Amino acid sequence: MEFQEVVRDRRMVRRYSDEPVDPAVVDRLLANAVRAPSAGFSQGWAFLVLDTPRDVERFWAATTPPEAAREPDAWLTGMRSAPVVIVPLASKAAYLGRYAEDDKGWTDQDEVHWPVPYWWVDVGMSALLILQTAVDEGLGACFFGVPGERWSHLREEFGIPEGYAPVGAITVGHRHPDERLGGSARSRARRPQHEVVHRGGWNG
Ligand SMILES: Cc1cc2nc3c(=O)[nH]c(=O)nc-3n(C[C@H](O)[C@H](O)[C@H](O)COP(=O)(O)O)c2cc1C
Repeated sequence: MEFQEVVRDRRMVRRYSDEPVDPAVVDRLLANAVRAPSAGFSQGWAFLVLDTPRDVERFWAATTPPEAAREPDAWLTGMRSAPVVIVPLASKAAYLGRYAEDDKGWTDQDEVHWPVPYWWVDVGMSALLILQTAVDEGLGACFFGVPGERWSHLREEFGIPEGYAPVGAITVGHRHPDERLGGSARSRARRPQHEVVHRGGWNG
């Protein structure tokens, strides 16, 4: 697919058909994810891949608050139909360690050096590559947050070490034929370029 088409067509898909995803395509999503840029080439990311019905079920059981599980809404029902879930995780320690090396020199490993925590940024960059690759492969995908109060359940269920934080999760699958634009993009317009671009100065 033409790159401009991938960018233009990408939007979050929150309902999927029961067509399985080719494992080779899942591999491609991940191969592209690790092509993302990262500060100091730290690559402090990890990807938990859940691509069997049982593992996907374990993901939802671990991350869904009990009251939502009792009465699943349209969002949850749609998202649960995805045959693949990828959880991108960030390791802050990987960055503090990398920047303590000789060429960077922040040997105190103090977080004060990080006005922007690049461990979050870099995983976001890799997540976008997963989303764009899904579009390129004719699939749909959605990045979404894992509620903070469910992190410990997710860690426990899948043996995720404390040093890795689940930045979010990405559902992947074939779009359901009745899938429609959902989420905030249904009620909010894309901000126009002239409103967000400041050429040569803030008032430019
Ligand atoms: C960091 C981040 C967190 C998001 N969290 C959620 C979420 O928890 N649930 C959800 O349905 N969509 C989530 N989204 C998707 C946004 O709602 C969506 O990207 C936005 O409305 C623009 O729509 P589009 O991506 O379809 O163009 C998230 C997106 C990002 C980048």
